[in-house]
Amino acid sequence: MDKKTIRDIDVQGKRVFVRVDFNVPLNGSTITDDTRIRAALPTIQELRAKGARIILASHLGRPKGQIVAQLSLKPIAARLQQLLGTSVAFSADSIGSGAEQQVGQLQDGDVLLLENVRFHSGEEKNDPDLAAAFAKLADVYVNDAFGAAHRAHASTEGIARFLPAVAGMLMERELSVLGEALAHPARPFTAMIGGAKVSDKIGVIEHLLAKVDRLLIGGGMANTFLAAKGYELGKSLVEADRVEVARELIQKAQETGKELLLPVDLVLATAFAADAPSRIGAVDEVHADEMALDIGPETSRLYAKTVMTSKTVIWNGPMGVFEMEHFAAGTNAVAHAMAEVQGMTIIGGGDSVAAIEKAGLAERMTHISTGGGASLEFLEGKVLPGVAALQSRKGASQ
Ligand code: 3PG
Repeated sequence: MDKKTIRDIDVQGKRVFVRVDFNVPLNGSTITDDTRIRAALPTIQELRAKGARIILASHLGRPKGQIVAQLSLKPIAARLQQLLGTSVAFSADSIGSGAEQQVGQLQDGDVLLLENVRFHSGEEKNDPDLAAAFAKLADVYVNDAFGAAHRAHASTEGIARFLPAVAGMLMERELSVLGEALAHPARPFTAMIGGAKVSDKIGVIEHLLAKVDRLLIGGGMANTFLAAKGYELGKSLVEADRVEVARELIQKAQETGKELLLPVDLVLATAFAADAPSRIGAVDEVHADEMALDIGPETSRLYAKTVMTSKTVIWNGPMGVFEMEHFAAGTNAVAHAMAEVQGMTIIGGGDSVAAIEKAGLAERMTHISTGGGASLEFLEGKVLPGVAALQSRKGASQ
């Protein structure tokens, strides 16, 4: 990673604006998963140890420029305080005289959390006036919000035009692990892509196909590939307008000597329901009133073996409707196979993170990305605006 980080700058006594991604799931004001808060701790602790005055900023949900009480970051200040073991002040606005006054009271090592930056409509519009108002609070800008780095917003991109801008430690780790895996993978290099729709992940599949040795397709999106091979899939989700793209990808894999694996059997049900009776069927024996809700046991074995004999594996997206117990076996099987890999295992955000955590295997992965959309865009080879805006060690930006 050629971006400057907090290790490259002097922060002693300086006001440091740290963009974090505290967009965590809430049930009322209870945080149901604090992974993203914990992931920001190393940067906060490092900055505290170096005597910085820390101003944390984040979005939460999509309030669209309105003040939405349920999307206040206040409960997060309380959780952060527990995790850090030090008091965390809270500012009811992310800009303006109130925030400026609170920043003025910070001593070296103190931490202040600003209210949801998306309560201002200028945030998502990347309004330069809002970015300037954020910048007015600080001397240095640190972006540690990998999960929001694909957004060109005032607190993720605009502010970097006004202040020296460097990466935090989470951002650094995400970029180096994902970047290294794509640039210099130990081989065989396998990508396992699942989830409901091909349309969401065509860019990722295209980009990864050029880099990997093996590509495994599962989840609802596999149906579209199977349809491209001429199989009849009954009532299964098939994206008719993507069948041609799927066919092209299959052909590209053949031409470039890549192994593109599709399910050979499926778990079939007549309704999309947790208690729907199900059966296992080969891909060429799906009845007209049936739909595929998981990969079958034969496919699970094949995919697990492929994963376990790889040296680098990137996984994004479940193999079936894993939220429903009867259709979770495929996702569980590949999750356990990931834990057996003698090499690097990367979970590229989203539902596969939930699946790995549900299986109790998170500790056994090399890296679990905190970014959903951001990791997908990274794996697609796109430039992330929040990263491009940071200072490069060589002087130029990304
Ligand atoms: C996420 O949860 O993926 C990030 O925090 C980005 O959130 P957004 O999709 O609302 O921009």
